[in-house]
Parts: sequence; C-alpha cells; structure tokens
Amino acid sequence: MQRQQVEEVFRQYTSAYNANDPKIKLKIDHTFRVAMLAETIAKSLGGADEDLAWLCGMLHDIGRFEQVRRFHTFFDAESVDHARFGADLLFQEGLLERFALDLSEKEKRILEVSIRNHNAYRVQEGLTEEEYTYCNILRDADKIDIFRVNCDTPLEEIYNVTTEELRNAGVSKAVKQCYFDRTAVRRDCRQTAADYVVAHICLVFELVYPISRKIAKEQGYVDRLLDFPSWNETTQEWFSYMRNTIWKEKKEYQEYENEKNTSVT
Ligand SMILES: [Fe+2]
Repeated sequence: MQRQQVEEVFRQYTSAYNANDPKIKLKIDHTFRVAMLAETIAKSLGGADEDLAWLCGMLHDIGRFEQVRRFHTFFDAESVDHARFGADLLFQEGLLERFALDLSEKEKRILEVSIRNHNAYRVQEGLTEEEYTYCNILRDADKIDIFRVNCDTPLEEIYNVTTEELRNAGVSKAVKQCYFDRTAVRRDCRQTAADYVVAHICLVFELVYPISRKIAKEQGYVDRLLDFPSWNETTQEWFSYMRNTIWKEKKEYQEYENEKNTSVT
C-alpha cells in the first residue's frame, strides 16, 4: 500500500478545512495516531494485514471535517453520525477514489464496515470473523487515543459545561452500575458532567485485545482522567474507588468485591 500517497491525499483533503482551527487540528492528529495504533494492534495479533488496519485508522474519522463544515459541531446527536457519514462520503460519494488505492472488494468491505461501526455501542451483527477483527482493531485504537484527547482538551470544552458544573457534579446510579458491570455506558444513561468522565473511563472495559489494555495503561491517560478534581465529596470517593479497581481483571475484580462485601457484613 502506498502510505505516502494516502497521507498526502488526506492532508490535501483536510487542508480545505482550516487546520488552524484547533478542533480540526485535533482530528487530524487523532487520525494519524489512531492509524499507528491500529497498525500496532494488528501486528500483535499476527495474521492481520497491518497496512489495511493502518488505512482503517487513516480514514475512520474522515466524516468529521465535512460534519463540522456543514453543521458547525462535532456533536453527532446535534448533526449526523460521523461514522456513517464518513463511510457514505467514501463509498457512496466517491471520496475513496481520490485516494487511488488498489483494494480488493474484500478489503473495501472491511474498510467500510470498520469505519461505519467504529463509534457504535456494539458492532453490527452478521459480519465475517475477519470483518469483526478489523472493526475491533479500529475501535480499540480509537478508544486508546480518546483517552489522550480527553486529557489534552479541557473537559469543560469537551462536555460543553462550566467548571462549576463539572466540579460539583455527582455520578448517576445507572452509570456506576455500568462500572460495576465492567461495561461501556450508553449515551442515554449519562446525566451529569461527571457521568461523561466516568463513561469515558469505562471505555477501558471495552478494549478487546490485551495489547490495547497494555498500551492504554502504559500511556497513563486513563490514570490522569481518574485524577478528576471534584469538589463533590461523594464523587471524590467514587473516583478513588475507580482508581483502586480500574485495572483489575474481571475475575480479580469480582474477588475484590466479594471480599469487601464479606468484610462489611
Ligand atoms: Fe470517530
């Protein structure tokens, strides 16, 4: 695969969207990092095509640029689902042709389904095992870099809230339950600003591959998110509980919880 060419066309394409805007620059940097991460994960699996994984990363957020131009927001709920939108631009509106890639039908299909599914709560059903693999590689790579983005950008900006709101916020019961269940938080469960922070932390539980967990842990961004400086005492306690338990494997966590419960009663 001609990576240089892909990078060049990508840069050319995105240069039309004002890279001086920090939000656009953020998406460009995110893209390159996700591509690298996807490649690393693919390599660790053995048997996966590293170039194809890298390409999935390079094109996964291509819909972001047109989204912000047309709708002036990155909030999917207020505009379009950026994953589907990007896949439509590439595969229905001819954007993929600009990259002049020599892809087989199977590779195109992998590229398309992994982009379409990258931000979904769960990957669609009915894919081949190979298609699932690339979906999971991309989803893991994207999540790992989201931890970084959330550390590098003020939370007030990401969640569109005031500092006061953020610092005073409690954590909803339903969101805590997701943490206990070691699962991602559905959008409709999130009610407070702190819920959003916890929801992002819970993405750790969705990482499919051991190497993804390892990278996320080593990068340290999840731990930085856990240092959330709350003014709300109950929220402080909740974050300290998460700091103690976040990296425990499922079984180890269950044992920890069982032990805690027996010592209390
Ligand atoms: Fe995305």
